[in-house]
Amino acid sequence: MSTAQQLNTQFGITGQLGFREDTSGLIVAEINNTQATASLCLQGAHLMSWQPKSQATPAIWLSRDAKLAVGKSIRGGVPVCWPWFGAHATEPGFPAHGYARTTPWQVIESGSEPDGETRLTLRLLANEKTRAQWPHPCTLELIVSIGETLRMELITENTGSSDFVIGEALHTYFRIGDIGAARVSGLQDCEYWDKVGGSELKKQQGAINFSSETDRVYINTAAECVIEDDQLKRRIRIAKSGSLSTVVWTPWTAKADKMGDLGQPDGWREMVCVESANAFDNTVRVAAGTSHTLIVEYRTESV
Ligand code: BG6
Repeated sequence: MSTAQQLNTQFGITGQLGFREDTSGLIVAEINNTQATASLCLQGAHLMSWQPKSQATPAIWLSRDAKLAVGKSIRGGVPVCWPWFGAHATEPGFPAHGYARTTPWQVIESGSEPDGETRLTLRLLANEKTRAQWPHPCTLELIVSIGETLRMELITENTGSSDFVIGEALHTYFRIGDIGAARVSGLQDCEYWDKVGGSELKKQQGAINFSSETDRVYINTAAECVIEDDQLKRRIRIAKSGSLSTVVWTPWTAKADKMGDLGQPDGWREMVCVESANAFDNTVRVAAGTSHTLIVEYRTESV
């Protein structure tokens, strides 16, 4: 694995992109360009922060209890869930949301766009442990473009000779003023699996307001969603392609207390997860020799 110094020599961009080693030993990329700041941990290709320069408050939420540790997922940011979403279908011992978020990735390219955005491309480094859980020959890459818009492209390439089926999500934790003063619109009339109190198929009426634990997998929807935040007086627009599920999650008090890493007692109130996914009814068959790409684009608007 490359050191921060080697990465700086090979991929660093003066005045825009640098790499540092955290006290945990994990390497973090720091981006600061004319449009935004961001940071990304190479373990998990986990974007931890993003703040457009037009905004006084970060657009991505990171728990104040978030810890960087080898082999552990980070609470907040954008965990990459892959190659399954949620619990593994048949192996209860395999990690929830797959192994991509806790496995080292390598930087394979970086660049500066003419408009000032910074681009970073990472590839998952498969190892013996990941191959034991996912024996299919493939590559997984994440291209992140950081500017006033945050764009992420998750590309799964099947390099083997038989098809496989994946579940996936960019499990983004968005920063909001307060969960009681935020709504998610764009999913009107969509069907969703309600994971609170057993899995039941329901239909969304109007925008989503939050007053208790919410854990829903909206299916068969490519719609753009908007987080409307009355307290921070802004909207966050979530556009996507290659994704037919949208997961909306807030843990609320009891679950947050149980989880214990959400910035107790009420750090969880300042976030909502809107995840662009392919889950439940929408898992994706990737035929041998082909690839599948999930793309998201996030933009903030002050209102
Ligand atoms: C969401 C799930 O995507 O992720 C929730 O719908 C889950 O059920 C949440 O609690 C957090 O998962 P984890 O594995 O990061 O604690």
